[in-house]
Amino acid sequence: MPDFASCRQMMLLYLKARIPFISLRTDERDRALELFRSLASELNIPVYYHTLSQGIRDIATNRIVNEDRSAVGALDYASQQILQRQNLTFILTEVQDLEGDTPLSRQLLDLASSATERGGTVIVITTSSVWPRLQRQGMTLVLDAPNEDEMRSIVAECLSPYRGAVPIEWAEPEISEAATILAGVTRIEAENAIATFLAKGSILKSDLIELSRVKDRIFADIAGLERVKTSDKEVVVGGLAGLQAWLEKQRPLLTMDLRERGLRPPRGVLLVGVPGCGKSLSAKAIAISWKLPLYRLDLSNIHGQYLGQSEGRLKEALSTADRVAPCVLWIDEIEKGLAGAAGSNDGGTSTRLLGHFLYWLQEGRARVFVVATANDIGKLPPELFRRGRFDELFFVDLPDHSERQEIITLYARRYMHRDLSGAMLGELVDISDGFAGVDIDAAVAEIAKEAILKGDSMITDAYWRTVFTNIVPLSKTNPEAVENIRAWGRERAVPASGQPLAPEAGQQRARRNVLV
Ligand SMILES: Nc1ncnc2c1ncn2[C@@H]1O[C@H](COP(=O)(O)OP(=O)(O)O)[C@@H](O)[C@H]1O
Ligand SMILES: [Mg+2]
Repeated sequence: MPDFASCRQMMLLYLKARIPFISLRTDERDRALELFRSLASELNIPVYYHTLSQGIRDIATNRIVNEDRSAVGALDYASQQILQRQNLTFILTEVQDLEGDTPLSRQLLDLASSATERGGTVIVITTSSVWPRLQRQGMTLVLDAPNEDEMRSIVAECLSPYRGAVPIEWAEPEISEAATILAGVTRIEAENAIATFLAKGSILKSDLIELSRVKDRIFADIAGLERVKTSDKEVVVGGLAGLQAWLEKQRPLLTMDLRERGLRPPRGVLLVGVPGCGKSLSAKAIAISWKLPLYRLDLSNIHGQYLGQSEGRLKEALSTADRVAPCVLWIDEIEKGLAGAAGSNDGGTSTRLLGHFLYWLQEGRARVFVVATANDIGKLPPELFRRGRFDELFFVDLPDHSERQEIITLYARRYMHRDLSGAMLGELVDISDGFAGVDIDAAVAEIAKEAILKGDSMITDAYWRTVFTNIVPLSKTNPEAVENIRAWGRERAVPASGQPLAPEAGQQRARRNVLV
């Protein structure tokens, strides 16, 4: 990720080398102009820049050198001046239509040739890519949104003039947290957010929560990712205590500064297991309990029609996730998108998608916590389990005795607004042996519908028993499928329940994270 300092460093070299054409990709024109202003004074060279609102100015003095404000006028003027003035640098900030072979990109191509003769440099500041033929005349650089370090000084600079004038509760730790939240937004957006807080007359510690919402609004609709709204009332996970305890430990690591020790922030967790036992539910629960936005990446949507399209989409989605960090990135049923990477006959697309995903997972340093789930472990490419990718691999089994007790209690309270007697609860826990969480949810929901139709007083203990007895769980209809998943989970994953899995005859106890 090219930050301001490294971008400036490269640009300095390009300007010294008098590269005839440079494109700078950024969403932040003013920040880019600031970069050139400081370079112009360091190198002491003439630099002109054009904007539609102000025409052409000298960047050092801000003096107007040409009144013509149009882009065409700017190009004409640049063509004359570059031939007349040795070593002139000319910055165009608002030329559209440079992505393909257009009259403007042809004109720029000519301009770049003239620049070569006279030691001139033409720079375009643009948000999109440039016609390849033009781009080959020179170099391209990217200036990303401010990183956390820059953001820290941006926030501090916004606040410092107001200290003493309004109550400001943010000290170093809060400024760092604000910087972590804001990383990925542009400088102007960050300054606007802080200014809005200042305008209400104080900066409180509690404003940090609102700051996350502001960032959320900035990134409301982004390509490739779906923002999932969750409500903490609907998302309560029963059981899975081992997973919960592990997650508790990861949360602080996600926002701490680990760079000093050369460590990477937690990257995520892979949940595999029996369908309907709370994997997808857990993904949502993590985002809620960590107070982070939840984004869903649908890999089956990523697969595009044309060769190379899917990879582009995946790259875009993942880099967007990096930009909105810190966040939880939920990849549901990951086996569906990456399945059959080896030996599939899609021209290698799946293999390349998997390769890119693994690279991103392993090398990424953004605070994106991935929660991937999988039901069909047979289809999972083994590369996913290698160390250095996910931080942990959990196996989510059918709920055990005490987990069923928790889940039944949970849904009795939610749908029936009551607690069951100890004896009744014990009976239902026994009847529901082999149920998935989703089966328990369905049983209690059915009882609740009956209660709505006939009145709560008509719901007897016998009715509870009947409904529970009549449920046929997947572990009954397809015992082999469930047994396969369990056998696999016992071998390779950490039990999410926190309880060692009951060993099967002749089999070892659960072993953790075996590398393939
Ligand atoms: N451990 C659990 N606690 C509470 N509800 C659960 C649990 N497991 C499953 N459920 C219920 O079943 C539904 C489906 O579970 P889900 O997490 O989507 O299963 P999967 O493991 O297949 O992703 C959930 O929305 C929830 O209503
Ligand atoms: Mg699921």
